Amino acid sequence: MQDLRDKVAVVTGGTSGIGFAVAQALGREGARLMLADIDATQLDEAVRRLQAAGIETEGLATDVSKRDEVERLADRAWERFGAVHIVMNNAGVAVFGATQDMTHEDWMWSVNVNLWGPIHGVESFVPRMIAHGAAGHVLFTSSFAGLVSNRDLGAYNVTKAAVVALAESLRKDVAKAGIGVSVLCPMRVATNIANCHLHRPQDLGGAGTSTHGGARRHRRPGIIGGGGRGPRRRRHPPEPTLYPHAQGSGEVCADAGGSHRGGFRHCPLTLRLRLESGARTNLRH
Ligand SMILES: NC(=O)c1ccc[n+]([C@@H]2O[C@H](COP(=O)([O-])OP(=O)(O)OC[C@H]3O[C@@H](n4cnc5c(N)ncnc54)[C@H](O)[C@@H]3O)[C@@H](O)[C@H]2O)c1
Repeated sequence: MQDLRDKVAVVTGGTSGIGFAVAQALGREGARLMLADIDATQLDEAVRRLQAAGIETEGLATDVSKRDEVERLADRAWERFGAVHIVMNNAGVAVFGATQDMTHEDWMWSVNVNLWGPIHGVESFVPRMIAHGAAGHVLFTSSFAGLVSNRDLGAYNVTKAAVVALAESLRKDVAKAGIGVSVLCPMRVATNIANCHLHRPQDLGGAGTSTHGGARRHRRPGIIGGGGRGPRRRRHPPEPTLYPHAQGSGEVCADAGGSHRGGFRHCPLTLRLRLESGARTNLRH
């Protein structure tokens, strides 16, 4: 997909961090946006900012772990825009701690959001995209942890590896329908993921899915892979720029521009999303 003008893109977890940055970048390239996020307040603010930048945007509060909510998101996207060309299954959470110390609720929450979320995205969007017949692209945000397991991130590693498998399987199965599939596997990006516990459901040991805090606990908060040395302040949200034509046919680059402190080297990332031909994302830093 070379030309993003007037294409319709749905981004889950689209109000913060990587999702919001990609939404901005897609919008700058002319895409129309449907943002989904569990955080309704953040969603309003993100939609307002994108609209103020002249990007046609609608938001729908959506918990990706709930199949009916993702189905509703797809219904609304088609109702509003009449098509969906790009779906980015990006929403994710991380529970830090040793694999053997994960509670059943830790596993449930991780799997519900990080794996069921993307599966719901496939179920709700892909058959309709195929039926619609237009070229399209499905993106997943996995993690470098989906390729190489990190210490103290067992549940996260498992879900992210499964997302890579989901993306690779889907890519093989939808290629004939003209739909490309990519999976983004970033390393450390300075985002709000350390606050993900704020949306942990009560029945899975959290404070609920609203925008306020007060989580039951939060093990080893920090940037993913941060080694658990305590809370880190968010320094620089990623500001990716999409370059649809910059890297040859069919590739889009997102320059996340991340800068990481407190034990990390400064690390501007270039995340290359291969929109047509490759399932795995190249990561350069
Ligand atoms: N930050 C990193 O270092 C890093 C590294 C590798 C992969 N990732 C992945 O990138 C993706 C985006 O995370 P981020 O780092 O930008 O974090 P972030 O917290 O800034 O953004 C994630 C967004 O997802 C939303 N969200 C959380 N649970 C949700 C749910 N159940 N339904 C819908 N929305 C929900 C949050 O409200 C938030 O807006 C995640 O899948 C994460 O695992 C992040």
